[in-house]
Order: sequence, then structure tokens, then C-alpha cells
Amino acid sequence: MDFNLALVIVVTTILGIGLQGCDSKVVQFIFGDSLSDVGNNMHLSRSLAQASLPWYGIDMGNGLPNGRFTNGRTVSDIIGDNMDLPRPPAFLDPSVNEDIILENGVNYASGGGGILNETGAYFIQRFSLDKQIELFQGTQELIRAKIGKRAAYKFFKEASYVVALGSNDFINNYLMPVYTDSWTYNDETFMDYLIGTLERQLKLLHSLGARQLVVFGLGPMGCIPLQRVLTTTGNCREKANKLALSFNKAASKLIDDLAENFPDSSYKFGDAYDVVYDVISNPNNYGFQNADSPCCSFWNIRPALTCVPASSLCKDRSKYVFWDEYHPTDSANELIANELIKKFGLSNTNQGGAPSPAPAVAPSPEDR
Ligand SMILES: *[C@@H]1O[C@H](CO)[C@@H](O)[C@H](O)[C@H]1NC(C)=O
Repeated sequence: MDFNLALVIVVTTILGIGLQGCDSKVVQFIFGDSLSDVGNNMHLSRSLAQASLPWYGIDMGNGLPNGRFTNGRTVSDIIGDNMDLPRPPAFLDPSVNEDIILENGVNYASGGGGILNETGAYFIQRFSLDKQIELFQGTQELIRAKIGKRAAYKFFKEASYVVALGSNDFINNYLMPVYTDSWTYNDETFMDYLIGTLERQLKLLHSLGARQLVVFGLGPMGCIPLQRVLTTTGNCREKANKLALSFNKAASKLIDDLAENFPDSSYKFGDAYDVVYDVISNPNNYGFQNADSPCCSFWNIRPALTCVPASSLCKDRSKYVFWDEYHPTDSANELIANELIKKFGLSNTNQGGAPSPAPAVAPSPEDR
């Protein structure tokens, strides 16, 4: 027999065994908002929170929009790469089936989504965290039907779970007067309501068999370009920053309590508030030139709300902290991811191995 043919048969046999679920792979399930979306909203045709037009995705792969709300990688992309975990596809990606899920996990993150169902109603279509967990339950049923209850239990137990939501509950809910929550609650009662909801959701994930969780805290969301534009001085909006800090404090305590209640599980909480605040105050110390305006903007019209083909891009995307009015650039995401990796105490499993996935900074289509 031809040697190559023999090799093909051996390889196919090994893959075949792998797919039986005898030795399932560690994959990730990601729950999040636009900071983690990798294409769900692109398939929600009525959603107003979209990253489906240029210049989103310009520094990744073929440079075409891929559903990420940034020019390159998300924070979860970078953290997962660092742990040598495959990047999970968007739940709504038409190619997703049981085999893909067993090999790569699933990403349920949706731009505009929040911990609360009512958050982001203005965007018409988005998956809230409750909805994302409901979709995950559907995924579990599919996998159980495919590999059996026992193997599925093990697969979901060994998987890694990321929960990264909360900014929309403030920016696109509590801090916006059009939302009922903004006049129903005060800072304290809203925080109790939000953290109480997150507690119920994390306990539900535990009851569904999730055992390795990392929960991301919030950055200084009062410093995103959109919030600065809302102040007369152009400074960070202190009220929003204060809320982010108290969310982080309360979420951190919730995670500690869960870790104590569920010794069979690993819970990690981390935020990059301090380092991002420092970058925004002293961008030059970190190699950035601009930390207050979006790299992609519609000439001088602010807020631009989204990046569109008619927008102009900054000259050097790696020197801007913000990509659009809401979202950090790939470079800023790398800095945030490195901080979270440190906080979570995750080991860098591909140290000295794989080539750096940092995007090449191509010339901007319309330099200013
Ligand atoms: C939120 O929406 C989900 C469906 O996506 C529903 O099952 C749940 O009951 C809702 N939660 C609340 C508090 O209304």
C-alpha cells in the first residue's frame, strides 16, 4: 500500500476516535456583549447594533467585517489564544453543528446585550444573558443527543466559560432617561437588582454543569468617547466610572461567595479598570497617542455612533485606544487581555510557541 494512503487512513481513524467523544477537547462557551460578539448580531437582521460594514475587522484575516466590534481581535480572542483554546464560532454562524461545537465551543455574545433582559431594547434585536443561557441549554440538548448523557456531562464540565456583560446595563439602560429602569431605581437599588440577576444566572450555569468560569468586570466606561461627548468639558463622565467601580466591587464579592458555595468549581473574577484608566490618563506611557476619540469617525460629526464605509480612519490604528465611540482597538484589547490574564492567574500555554497573532497595521483607506 502507498505510504501516503496508509497515513491518511491512520489519521482518519484517529480523528474518528476523537469524534466519538471518548476524550473530549476543552473548549470555551462565551456569554457577552459587543466586546465579545464574533458575528451573532450580523445574523440578527433587525438589530441596530451592527459591525457588519467596513471598516470593522480591517486588521483581521481578509480585512472584511466579521461581526467583531473592533478592527482586530476581541479581549476573549486574545485570552483564548493565550490558553491555546480554539476560538468558538458565533452561535448563529450557519456552519455550526454538533461536530463544530465539540471541537470549538460556541460564542453566544451579542452586541447591545446585557445582564438584564430590558437592556439595549433600543437596538431591537440582541441576545440578553438570559437568552444566551437559554440558547446554551439548547446546545446541551444537541450534544447529549449526539454523544450521550455521560460524555456530554464530562464535555460541559471540562469546558471553560466566559461571562462578560454589564456595561450595556448602564450605558444602554440605567444611564439613559428613555429606559424605565433609569427612573425606577437609584444607584444602590439598581446595583442590587443587577447583581441579584447575575447571581441567579451564574447559579443557573452551575446547575447546568459549568464548572470553570471566568467573569470579566467593567472598565472605566465613563471614558469611552461617546460618554465624553455627553459632558460639556469632554472629560470622562464620573458618574459612569463610579458605577463601573461599584459593579466591579459587588461582582467580585459575588464571585468570592460562589467560589465558597461551590467548592467543586473554579470561579475567577478580573477587571482591567485601573490599567485602562491609567492608559487613558497617560497614553504615551503605553505607546498610545490618542485615548479620547475614536479612530474611525465620520469626519467631525460626533458622536458618530458607528463606523461606516464613509468614515475616515486614523493614520495609525495601533496608537488609538478607541476604535469607535464605544469599543477599544485591537491594541487596547491586547493590553486589557494581558491584564486579565494576570488577574485570573492564567498560565500562558503557548509561550515561545505560536507566532504572534498581532495584526499587521495596513495603511488606512482614508488617512486624515
Ligand atoms: C428574560 O428572558 C428570558 C427569555 O429569553 C425569559 O425566560 C426570562 O424569564 C426573562 N427574565 C425576566 C426576569 O423577565
